[in-house]
Order: sequence, then C-alpha cells, then structure tokens
Amino acid sequence: MKSIHMACDHAGIELKETLRAHLEKMGYTVTDHGTYSKESCDYPVFAHALCNAVEAEDVPGILICGTGIGMSIAANRHKGIRAALCGCEFQARATRQHNNANVLCLGERVIGQGVALDIAELFLNTAFEGGRHLRRINQIEG
Ligand code: RB5
Repeated sequence: MKSIHMACDHAGIELKETLRAHLEKMGYTVTDHGTYSKESCDYPVFAHALCNAVEAEDVPGILICGTGIGMSIAANRHKGIRAALCGCEFQARATRQHNNANVLCLGERVIGQGVALDIAELFLNTAFEGGRHLRRINQIEG
C-alpha cells in the first residue's frame, strides 16, 4: 500500500482537493493534515504538522500554498526534510534523482492543475540515484 501525506493553507486547498482525488485513484492512501476550508490560516502550522508525520513515518509529503514558497521555507527547517518547490517536470524528476527530496511543494497560484498533477506523479515515481548525490546530501547540514 502506497501512503502519502498532504497539507495546504487556504490558498492551496483547491489544488490539494484535486490532487488528493487523483492520488487516491492511483492507489495512494492519503493522510490529509488540513486545512479543510478556504478560511484564512497560517501556512507554517500545516507545514510543521505534515513534516512531523513525514519524519516519523518515512513516507513522502506534498505541501501546497499560494506560491509554494512559504511552505518550502517552513518545511526545510526540519532536519529530516528535504522539501523542493517545483514548477515543472524537470525539477520534479531532478530533485528526486539528485536531492532525494521527500516533500514536494507546489504553488496553486503559480501553476495550472494539469502541470501540478504531472509534477506530483513524476515526483512520486522517480527514484533517488544515490552515489555522489548521497555524499552531497550528507554535506547539507554543515
Ligand atoms: C497566502 O496569502 C499566501 O501568503 C500563502 O499561501 C503562501 O503563498 C506563502 O508563502
């Protein structure tokens, strides 16, 4: 069974709903950490909830806000998280192959839903290449 965590703020909720339905159709069990309405809310709350779950369970996560930027900044404060803000399929593939990213960040106000679904599929279906990329990841903490 494939599992994934998702979370968003009010600016990412439409894309989260569409993407969650798409992933469930693909056979994923989705844990939705909110938000659940379009009422204004604070994106770091949802980023931290999702990242705690991803760190605990070692399954991928997807965070969505208006730009994807706030979510990615908050997520990357977590030691066990490598969050990648992606706007195209090239970035989605490369960040899995080279960065072993475990959280995908998307900006609902930036990209269309079709592109977002393709990015998510590629992110989830691409393996880390290891080797020299693992050495580099191990240097990130400094
Ligand atoms: C909300 O207006 C917006 O600031 C938020 O969704 C996100 O884009 C922050 O980075």
